[in-house]
Amino acid sequence: MGGYIPDELVEEIRARSDIVEVISDRVLLKKSGVNYKGLCPFHSEKTPSFTVSPAKQIFHCFGCNEGGNVYQFVMKIENLSFPDSVLLLARRYGINIAEQKVKGVNSSQKNTLYEVNAMAAEFFLRQLSELPQGKTAREYLRKRGINEDIIESFKIGYASTSWDGIHQFLKKKGISADIQNSAGLVKERENGGGYVDRFRERVIFTISDSEGRIVGFGGRVLNDTDSRPKYLNSPETLVYKKGNILYGLHITKDSIRKSKEAFLVEGYFDLITAYQHGVKNIIATSGTALTEDHARLLRRYTETVTLVFDGDEAGRNASNRGGMVLLNGGVKVKVIPLPQGNDPDSFIREKSGEGFLNIARESKTFMEYIINKEAAGSDLKSIDGRVKCINAVIPFLSLMNNSVEKSMYISSLAEKTGVSEKAIMDEMNKNKVKDKAKDKAKVKEALTSTFNKAERILVQLMLLDNKNIDKIKKNISVDNFKDDDMAKISSVLFTLSDSNDNISISHIMDMLSEERLKKLVSEMVFEDIEYQEVDKNISDCIRYIKKNRIDVNELVNQLKTAVSEGNHKRFKDLQGQILKIKQNAVIHDA
Ligand code: UTP
Ligand code: MN
Repeated sequence: MGGYIPDELVEEIRARSDIVEVISDRVLLKKSGVNYKGLCPFHSEKTPSFTVSPAKQIFHCFGCNEGGNVYQFVMKIENLSFPDSVLLLARRYGINIAEQKVKGVNSSQKNTLYEVNAMAAEFFLRQLSELPQGKTAREYLRKRGINEDIIESFKIGYASTSWDGIHQFLKKKGISADIQNSAGLVKERENGGGYVDRFRERVIFTISDSEGRIVGFGGRVLNDTDSRPKYLNSPETLVYKKGNILYGLHITKDSIRKSKEAFLVEGYFDLITAYQHGVKNIIATSGTALTEDHARLLRRYTETVTLVFDGDEAGRNASNRGGMVLLNGGVKVKVIPLPQGNDPDSFIREKSGEGFLNIARESKTFMEYIINKEAAGSDLKSIDGRVKCINAVIPFLSLMNNSVEKSMYISSLAEKTGVSEKAIMDEMNKNKVKDKAKDKAKVKEALTSTFNKAERILVQLMLLDNKNIDKIKKNISVDNFKDDDMAKISSVLFTLSDSNDNISISHIMDMLSEERLKKLVSEMVFEDIEYQEVDKNISDCIRYIKKNRIDVNELVNQLKTAVSEGNHKRFKDLQGQILKIKQNAVIHDA
């Protein structure tokens, strides 16, 4: 893979990149000792096990075992090939790469779709501003109070009544019908024979991913008497996965990060009206249910999300489901219940941005909101009513991570229902989630999956301190390593030490071709181990690898014989000997 781009360039770009900076764009990091910690963007967790080392320029997650240098992070989070991630970082750090050096990089299917979508967006925009027909759409937007600046920055456009406007436009640009179709811009005619535009006679909202690449469109009819669906969105495509796109995020992410809070609304107009009225830390789900991926995406920018859903039954239900998903994803959730019949768009147009921020100041935490709502909706004088109320709240409570907060809500629920805190807690413990225990088990499994601890210790010592490489290299060869992974890592270390005085971990990562090995390296580097007697550890491990392993193998054979012979005493004896060799050989850490 690295063959696309010369190694020196890969090295230069890596050296110029700062992993803390790059990761901070996507994960909220907090300083923790010499490292930074945050909630892992690659799996769901509520306590941070994702660690970044500024000194070593690598990251590792002890929950899901992802790890590597800045390239692995970008590849994984952006879902890019290696050369594409090199290119992305080069661009970010203003390093010029002659295009021919990375030929092939831009030809990926996804990039084609981004380009086609960008052409389509431009087409829709021009139709809005230039087409005589576009006047009805301009008029519509004006009536809804949307100004020119917003139309431009959010790339709002118009699809005309034509059956093949975008189809012909893209065809002339050399884009095949097939590609137009896979971008979701056209669809096959119902009775076969060619394609027609998907969006016709609609105001068009351009949908981008968090990096600002255009991934799809949403269109609204201009007339509420139109018999067609009010909104129509692009279908899912290679670049548009509804479960991980939030409308507006590419524009609002900086405000969200700065204000440490995001307002989450349902509709396109809710978002743009709010934005125009100065509420800029905002995103919209635009017709999709919130997913775990959305929660993870939001957590890159903020810890707190305030739900501002429509003041109707549907809005309240969506808000409950959404709050649950976000809580489960480790997000702090607040709620602004809008007056019945209002949506954020209508509320803000009536009461202004200031009016909105005023009620935002009184927003309740999601749990307070749930408890109040369930208490108000149950007959707390009857036993049945109390049980119903408590059972409705428990699923939300069990998702809470902070035990201090949780106990406060349990008291509040106890007080409201007149049921003891203990009874509520007993009920809750019945369906407790044990995800912390699961995470720990995973780490342990990863640690013990290495075939031989002695080999692992040697490799770890070499990674932690380059000076150990020579000491080890003198006494042992790569062939002595029985664990394939450890042999491969040692081989890279031995080779690098021949020509370098100072070997960076991040450089080692690039020399290892397999993902698994990069993860192993980051894991070993971040493990909280301080070796006390380094030289003794090295000689013990080497002795064990060269000599005792042979003894152990021999003893294991004898053990098998003892088992088949049913000689229990011999079995016990051999087992003891093996255990003793293993213990003597390797346990010297900290
Ligand atoms: P709403 O029905 O609440 O519409 O849908 P709205 O945002 O208030 O729309 P206006 O104000 O009448 O223009 C909320 C969001 O759900 C999606 C759209 O993204 C919409 O903004 N939706 C709605 C659809 O995808 N399809 C539909 O038919 C309706
Ligand atoms: Mn609305």
